[in-house]
Amino acid sequence: MIIAIDGPAGVGKSSVAKTVARELGIYYLNSGNFYRGVTLRVLRNHIDPSDNEACERQASEAVFDVRDGRFYLDGEDVEDKLHTPEIDLNASRISVNPAVRAIVNKRIHELTKKISIIAEGRDMTTVVFPDADFKFFFDAKPEVRAQRRFDQNPEAMPYEQVLSEIIERDTIDRNKPVGGLKIAEDSLYIDTSYLTLNEVCEKVLKTVRLSSKI
Ligand code: DC
Repeated sequence: MIIAIDGPAGVGKSSVAKTVARELGIYYLNSGNFYRGVTLRVLRNHIDPSDNEACERQASEAVFDVRDGRFYLDGEDVEDKLHTPEIDLNASRISVNPAVRAIVNKRIHELTKKISIIAEGRDMTTVVFPDADFKFFFDAKPEVRAQRRFDQNPEAMPYEQVLSEIIERDTIDRNKPVGGLKIAEDSLYIDTSYLTLNEVCEKVLKTVRLSSKI
């Protein structure tokens, strides 16, 4: 079984997907971590993130793995190193590169072959798993997403800056020539603006359980 979720940054995809994965006993895949992993490698190797060919080389040399819900880059557990403002911004830019996307998608397919998964990102429902059994698109107003991110770490940066970065990342995500954020025709659209994490999880679980007898 494949459950695919797409949506913009800060909409609650990861929290919901993690909970649903635990509830159903299936593998959780955060596709954004692959782009963040490439970005970490690019920055560590002092590569210019706007050098497309060098970024492609970094992506193809990288060894990605996901074990016990943690992301590994070249054998190192980097799960706690992927969420910095520098990686947020550069991952957004590096993930525009179609060659990097092709490498990431190939690795995702290799890792998830023949297992039940819940995968989340920007192009899970449209490009990576177009035949997923269940597809969801989560959405929420930019102001609500910015407020949630701000509340997670109020010291990091002012609310206005969080909001402007979310808006910038939305623009980049929606306008990618390959793998841009789109609502698949057969996705169930959920506006999470005024829903709790539990309410969103319940909607997903109800949809899955109704039609798959889990
Ligand atoms: O979901 P996230 O914020 O952790 O994703 C990190 C970056 O990778 C973000 O800028 C969007 C991009 N991304 C993408 O282009 N395609 C995906 N399937 C997942 C993430």
